[in-house]
Order: sequence, then structure tokens, then C-alpha cells
Amino acid sequence: MSLCHFKAIRDRMKFLQWKHRFSLTSTTHVALFLGFTLLLIFIRENNMHLADYIRMYNIFSYPDATMTPCRPVSNVMFLKTHKTGSSVILNILFRFAENNNLTVALPAGKTFHLGHPGPFKAQQVEGFSTMAHKYNIMCNHLRFNFSEVAKVMPNNTFYFSVLRNPTTLLESSFAYHKGSIPAFQKLTDLNEFLASPWTYYNLSVPIKNIHARNTMWYDFGYDNNAEEGENYVHSVLMDIEEKFQLVLITEYFDESMVLLKNILCWNLEDVVYFKLNFRTQESIQNLTHENKERVKEWCSLDWKLYKHFNRTFWKRIQETIGMEKMQKEVELLRSRQKELTEICVQNGKPMHKSQIKDKHLKPYQSGTADIMGYGLKSGLANETMRICHRLIVPETQHTALLYAKQFPEKPRKLDLTM
Ligand SMILES: *[C@@H]1O[C@H](CO)[C@@H](O)[C@H](O)[C@H]1NC(C)=O
Ligand SMILES: *[C@@H]1O[C@H](CO)[C@@H](O)[C@H](O)[C@H]1NC(C)=O
Ligand SMILES: *[C@@H]1O[C@H](CO)[C@@H](O)[C@H](O)[C@H]1NC(C)=O
Ligand SMILES: *[C@@H]1O[C@H](CO)[C@@H](O)[C@H](O)[C@H]1NC(C)=O
Ligand SMILES: *[C@@H]1O[C@H](CO)[C@@H](O)[C@H](O)[C@H]1NC(C)=O
Ligand SMILES: *[C@@H]1O[C@H](CO)[C@@H](O)[C@H](O)[C@H]1NC(C)=O
Ligand SMILES: *[C@@H]1O[C@H](CO)[C@@H](O)[C@H](O)[C@H]1NC(C)=O
Repeated sequence: MSLCHFKAIRDRMKFLQWKHRFSLTSTTHVALFLGFTLLLIFIRENNMHLADYIRMYNIFSYPDATMTPCRPVSNVMFLKTHKTGSSVILNILFRFAENNNLTVALPAGKTFHLGHPGPFKAQQVEGFSTMAHKYNIMCNHLRFNFSEVAKVMPNNTFYFSVLRNPTTLLESSFAYHKGSIPAFQKLTDLNEFLASPWTYYNLSVPIKNIHARNTMWYDFGYDNNAEEGENYVHSVLMDIEEKFQLVLITEYFDESMVLLKNILCWNLEDVVYFKLNFRTQESIQNLTHENKERVKEWCSLDWKLYKHFNRTFWKRIQETIGMEKMQKEVELLRSRQKELTEICVQNGKPMHKSQIKDKHLKPYQSGTADIMGYGLKSGLANETMRICHRLIVPETQHTALLYAKQFPEKPRKLDLTM
């Protein structure tokens, strides 16, 4: 069926749904009246204002693409690349899992990563021996190895990942991992490193230096110090295309979320997010123009990877929803994001890690980077509070929370009661 044909059917269905809504019989009027009364009682019980309720649950919103006649995909593996905004995608996937009673392949025991920088093994997933192929979602950090991941996930799993421009990625790695990366340890400015990388980068300590060069190439399971040959690069790109159904781009994050939602047949509400694990503008180092160009050579494998999938990303948009609809949905996403920020976030904006008093909400990530987070508005009704909490809870606490839910008999990853 052609795309146009498909769209025509969908539009027709939407029209019918609306028509149906406005041609009500008297029985439906009574039912509606009763339903509305019950709703009001429920709202009173929950101590909510009607306006808040309507905004929170989006109940009068226009039925946008959320009504597409397709089946939501629920078996999903996300390769969580480092310093690419992937914490937000983990948050989205965890929320989807929780809202749909899905099972997540979580790191075993007290760990928070599935296998990184060392190799990933299926046994690192909690419950693997009894639950192999029964998990729905997998998204904690790991170094990708398809045959190991395939032991864990069902065979109809949707694989996707996200890539970021290597220049800003390297700057972010420098800020977050400086203390633990031998190549960066002695430096305060990434510009110094780029002026002469081989002075600081020692190939004999490769695994400790993975965040200093071609990190995305490494996360996908390839050798980040490989000699760059045209055939080699091509074969890796083809290998990734074969295993991953979708590769998103950090620089176009909202477009990425819209594309993801459309391909997975999810709702807009599923991919609305708050920015997580990010720094203030002032703590971001500025590279000279010359050094920005040098990153493309120093991380040339990642640069080629990024350029390739940036092309396929835009091609995919054109072949599926098209630019016009994309823009409309990006706007919807942003207005919903704004709305939820007003409902959920204390003072309506992010704050410094140091100002967040609630340990459940303090970002845990390492390093000296001044990471931002959120406070939860006080006085929210229970269910609203739950929804808001899940939108802002940092990755570590979120992983611990799901773990406690899925494995109530096991010792907790963190001592958190929620
Ligand atoms: C998830 O499970 C809960 C409790 O068993 C149930 O009330 C709820 O309807 C389920 N939700 C979905 C989407 O299946
Ligand atoms: C991936 O895992 C398989 C076993 O499932 C192993 O044989 C292979 O060496 C691993 N690949 C890498 C690159 O570690
Ligand atoms: C995929 O898994 C299902 C159920 O586990 C099985 O019935 C089916 O044969 C598998 N398909 C392939 C291609 O392996
Ligand atoms: C690189 O690391 C190895 C192993 O730690 C060490 O023996 C060697 O001296 C280092 N080389 C440089 C140039 O620092
Ligand atoms: C980098 O540039 C931005 C925008 O010009 C500025 O706000 C920021 O303070 C600069 N960062 C540093 C570390 O100088
Ligand atoms: C990514 O693709 C967009 C749209 O084609 C283009 O404007 C942008 O320059 C590309 N970025 C890179 C780094 O190639
Ligand atoms: C809301 O949560 C509080 C404390 O967890 C509980 O005591 C109360 O019964 C809950 N209210 C509703 C309406 O569920």
C-alpha cells in the first residue's frame, strides 16, 4: 500500500471518529453525563483542579497521529551511546515499560551498566537464566554485541540508537570523564589536547581511553583505534544498518522523538520528555574553529558514522511522515513539554544539582561537571505526582526503582523508598 493511500485511509478514519463523536444518541448522553459526574468525583477525591486534570491527562486534545491504525511496538532494544542525550531516551523507554507493564532487561545485582567498557554478556542481565527472550525493553549502557543481545531479547525486537556530532560529544566526554581518562587527566582545556592529541593519548592503555576517541564506534562494538580504510568503514556502516532499524540524531532531538514515535506507533505522550543529565551553558568549553576541524580527523571513524546516519535520518523522514507533518508534530511535542513543565516542575525550570535537596531527584553522574536537574512541585495529587516524578527522575534512581519493582525479593540497588 502506498504511503498516500495509507494517509488517505487514516484521515478518513479520523474524520469518521469525529463524526461519530458528534452524532450521539440519548443513551450516550446519559452515559456521558454519568461518566462526567464520576470524573468530577474522582478529581475531588484526588484533590485536583479540573483545569489541571484536563491539562495533565490531555483529555480534550485533538486526536493527532495517536489514532493511527497500527500496533505499538513493545519489544525494543536501545543501544545507549555515551554523551549523546541518551539518558532522555532511557527515561522514555522506562516510562513506556512502566505504563504498559513491560519487562525491562536490567543490570544484575547492584550494577547500573549492562556491560561497559568491558564486553557485554547475556548473564549480566538480572533473571536471564529464566527470562531469556521474554524481556521487552533493554536500554542500559552496554558495548554492543549482537549475538549476546539476541540471547536476551525476543527475535522480533526493534533495535535503535542515537548519534551526536563528535565535536560536541568529545567536549562533553572531556567534562564528564576527565578525571578517569588518562589522556585527559593532566589537562584543563580540551583545546590543549586537540593541538597535539598523540602527546596525551597512549595506545597501550586503550580501554581507559575509550572516551577520548571514537566513543560511538566503540559503543557499537567496533575497534575505536582501527586503521581507517574505505572498505572497513563501509562494511561497518552496512553492518549497523543491517542490525539497527533506526539511528537517531542528537542535534535534531525533537525530530528524532517524533520519528521514533511514528515508527513504533506510540503516542506523542510517550515521547514527551524533560532534558536530563545536562550542564549549564557556562560550563561548556568553546573549541577554536581549528580544533573543531581537528576533531573530525581525530575521531574520523565517528565523524563518518555520524555523517552517514545524519543522511539516512533525513531520508527516512522524507520517506515516512514528510517535513510538513514533522514540523507540526515537533510543535505539538514542544507545547506539551511546556505544559507538563508548568504542571510538574518546581519554579518551572531546571536547577543546579547542588540545589536539589531530595536525594531521589539529585543527579548522580560523576565528575566535576555541574549537572542540572529538577525539583518536583509540591502538593500534586498522587497520580499526577507519579507521572511528574517519572519525567524528572535521574537515570540511576530510575533504574533502581524499576529493579525494586521487578525483583522485590532482591536487595535494592539504592536505598530509596518511593
Ligand atoms: C498493568 O497492570 C496493572 C496491575 O496489574 C493493571 O491495573 C493495568 O491495567 C495494567 N496496564 C496495562 C496497560 O496493561
Ligand atoms: C560477541 O559475543 C560472542 C558470543 O556470543 C563472542 O563469540 C564474540 O567474540 C563477541 N564479540 C566481541 C567483539 O566481543
Ligand atoms: C521467533 O520467536 C518465536 C517465538 O519465540 C518463534 O516461534 C519463531 O520461530 C522465531 N522466528 C525466527 C525467525 O527465529
Ligand atoms: C604508555 O603506557 C604504557 C603502559 O602503561 C607505558 O609503559 C608507556 O611508557 C606509556 N607511553 C607513554 C608515551 O607514556
Ligand atoms: C562558551 O561560549 C558561550 C556562548 O558564547 C558562553 O556562554 C560560555 O560562557 C563559554 N564557555 C566558556 C567555558 O568560556
Ligand atoms: C545533517 O543533515 C542536515 C539536513 O540535511 C544538514 O543540514 C546538516 O548539515 C547535516 N550535518 C552534517 C554534520 O553533515
Ligand atoms: C495518596 O498517597 C497517600 C500517601 O502515599 C495515601 O495516604 C493516600 O491514601 C493516597 N490518596 C489516594 C486518593 O490514593
